[in-house]
Amino acid sequence: MFKAAALGVLCLSTFATASSQLVERQSANPDSCPGYTAKNVKTGKGTLSADLVLAGTACNVYGSDIQNLKLAVTYEDETRIHVKITDAKNKRYEVPDSIFKRPSGSGVDDKKADIKFNYKSSPFSFTITRAKTGEVLFDSSAGALVFEPQYLRLKTKLPSQANIYGLGEHTDSFRLNPTNTTRTLWNRDAYGVAQGSNLYGSHPIYFEQRTSGTHGVLLMNSDGMDINLRDGSLEYNVIGGIFDFYFLSGPSPVQVAQQYATLVGKPAEVPYWGFGFHQCRYGYRDYVDVANVITNYSAAGIPLETMWTDIDYMYKRWTFTNDPEYFPTAKMHQITDYLHNHNQQYIVMIDPAVAYQPNQNYGAFDRGVQDGVFLKFPNGTLFQGVVWPGPTVFPDWFHPKAAQYWTGEMQRFFDPKTGIDIDGLWIDMNEAANFCDFPCADPAGAAAAAGNPPARPAPPPANGTQIFQKRQTSSANSTSSTVNLLNPPYAIHNALDQLSQHTIRTDLIHANGLNEYDTHNLYGFMMSMNSQKGMEARRPGKRTLVITRSTFVGAGTKVGKWLGDNLSTWDHYRWSISGQLGMASIYQIPMVGSDICGFGGNTTETLCARWAMLGAFSPFMRNHNGDTSISQEFYRWPTVAEAAKKAIAIRYQLLDYIYTHFHRQNTDGTPLLGPMWFQYPTDQNTYPIDLQFFYGDSLLVSPVTQENSTSVDIYLPKDTFYDYFTLAPVQGAGAKVSLTNVNFTDIPLHIRGGGILPMRVESAMTTTALRQKDFQIVVAPNASGTASGYLYIDDGVSLSQTKTTDITFQYAKGTLKASGKFDYNVGSVKVAKVIFLGIKSQPKGVSVSGSGAKSKGFKWDAATSTVTVNVEISLEGAFSVTLK
Ligand code: NOJ
Repeated sequence: MFKAAALGVLCLSTFATASSQLVERQSANPDSCPGYTAKNVKTGKGTLSADLVLAGTACNVYGSDIQNLKLAVTYEDETRIHVKITDAKNKRYEVPDSIFKRPSGSGVDDKKADIKFNYKSSPFSFTITRAKTGEVLFDSSAGALVFEPQYLRLKTKLPSQANIYGLGEHTDSFRLNPTNTTRTLWNRDAYGVAQGSNLYGSHPIYFEQRTSGTHGVLLMNSDGMDINLRDGSLEYNVIGGIFDFYFLSGPSPVQVAQQYATLVGKPAEVPYWGFGFHQCRYGYRDYVDVANVITNYSAAGIPLETMWTDIDYMYKRWTFTNDPEYFPTAKMHQITDYLHNHNQQYIVMIDPAVAYQPNQNYGAFDRGVQDGVFLKFPNGTLFQGVVWPGPTVFPDWFHPKAAQYWTGEMQRFFDPKTGIDIDGLWIDMNEAANFCDFPCADPAGAAAAAGNPPARPAPPPANGTQIFQKRQTSSANSTSSTVNLLNPPYAIHNALDQLSQHTIRTDLIHANGLNEYDTHNLYGFMMSMNSQKGMEARRPGKRTLVITRSTFVGAGTKVGKWLGDNLSTWDHYRWSISGQLGMASIYQIPMVGSDICGFGGNTTETLCARWAMLGAFSPFMRNHNGDTSISQEFYRWPTVAEAAKKAIAIRYQLLDYIYTHFHRQNTDGTPLLGPMWFQYPTDQNTYPIDLQFFYGDSLLVSPVTQENSTSVDIYLPKDTFYDYFTLAPVQGAGAKVSLTNVNFTDIPLHIRGGGILPMRVESAMTTTALRQKDFQIVVAPNASGTASGYLYIDDGVSLSQTKTTDITFQYAKGTLKASGKFDYNVGSVKVAKVIFLGIKSQPKGVSVSGSGAKSKGFKWDAATSTVTVNVEISLEGAFSVTLK
């Protein structure tokens, strides 16, 4: 259906038939290309530039080879090299500065750099090497450089067993198979999030892990691309833009993450309540349904922090409206008032596609038309697709008035007095999803897909053919005058047949002259930027929680992300782990989580119970499912309710610990979640592990991953660990450990020796109540008897924090020391307990110091080697607790 629609409406404007392209694709061999010769090489302080001239007869694999290129290399700092290759004569599309703020300034002294750029003149190729060891990290001599209007190719050699991570969004294994992987980056509404396919977001960054060190490579390009890993190489095949590489030196995984965050922006802080438990579903029929869920949670004694509502609340699914009968404003107010009175929050969804409803008094449509902010055909007619409401138009985020339009709509609709009162926002369908171009080849099918089709207006003139050709050639920034923006000669492995399928036509030109072909992957990010702005205006001075589906490089600076439409299966449960690791630890989008219990299909009691526990260790914890699925709120089954209560209680006790890690990621990019190799980079056994992970740097989560199983084989590196529940030491031997009798209400957790966990002494029904609970500090020494940790406290909601508490804990030789800044007024909250793990002999006594600090006795447990010291210590200044 989609293919027919796309061809029927669009393809007359293009110059090649599908079958001729197929022949061309099959015969094209970039390895036969001549490459380029570097001439006129000039070096400056930390810079190098050269002309790259085509080195032989053009190969023209997917268009005409560009004769002259320009190479510019900059050592941007000691840890980062920027390598840019572009057309010497014609301006090509580059990711705009408004999306990616390029580091400014000239180069730094390359003699001081950790990595080096070296090149070979003819055929031109370059390497990136480690300065100290000369180890080659990147070597583009693996294949000829090809640079054509709609095809760029560059290939680097990889070690035989390369450990490559990233290049998502994907549901493939976290460590990509180096011998047979194609990662396609083209944002897509990807119901079912199939393995091996392109999904909602594009992140052309990879980390390569070696026992000798870690490095990162970002290709800052938003065009569609395939990245192939096979035959000992990694090959970029990109359909536009330029080569804009950033090489990050590491050498530790965490350092690469920090360097990447420095480059693309550190993740925005989120409110403390954002870490509470969220409940959602598609298909809550009306406000009564929603209210019932809220009360059912409290009746079941399961903490519900935030209630969500999907598009169900909208009037005919028109974005920025609510249904006067099913979700009337007054009733919605009752719901939000109730929630707020109980220290709970409310979030609803908005979609970017605005229903095409002229003369219906539909403000969001009328004002958008007035401002001219919707995407148009070159003759000025609105481009129409079909989404949930039927025919829709799409904001052109590059239009100068788009931001103002969008934030204006948000201000108006989310006015807490006259509109819908929300605390956070959910933005969806922003790849952008479009079921078909209106009028669709199969209008009935499209209408059915849209679910609730309103009457159709007259279609726009269907004479796109000449218009597009004229527009393409006149576009200042288009890739070339002869480009094919619908079916480019190199076809990326998009899971759908056509680039424009199920999305906005790629030949549309935005208000600033950029085309959708080059900027498609930015659509969701731009909606995120504008929605975040809207929330900031709506809640002045407060942090926002905006959760998006589609992302691009840097999205974490504005929003969080959920992993889209997974299914209620064990595969999807397992994939959710690598999915969230990718977002949090590689792409710097730490506020991430999957639809707990699964979105599509029907969950089961045991799957939902396991997922409730696993999901408690996602930074963003939300239960959400599809409209045709059975209900799956945690209170629906006894096992699930018990599992959820237990896991949420652990999560809440650890909430300040993870909040502190989130703050750290916001400050320096250190990821709050980590794959095991982040902690054990020289232990090769950890490289493929993606079913265990670190929540913060000191808690190892090892869920049961098989259906109906109550056992799990986990890996424990050679290190000291402590069982989270018994607190007893567990020595890791660098080997598998089989855990049995893991009930459906249990999840194995281990504290890493060397860590210190600040926890609340008990959980609470809301995060507001939690903030009134005292702290306990768990000290878990490593083999050398030392440990360290952090605790950050602020008011949890303000954008700018003036008074914060930022404590560093150090433990050595029996003494825990807490020092740092103690400026946040925690009221009567104090440290009530310190638990020392791995203490093999009974201490003779304890002493505490600090203003007004009191010891209230201690207890040594010989069986678990723990000492629990009851204390009363204010969080007003430095303190220490010593075991004598
Ligand atoms: C698609 C989203 O991925 C899903 O979470 C949502 O429930 C539906 N759209 C309906 O809005």
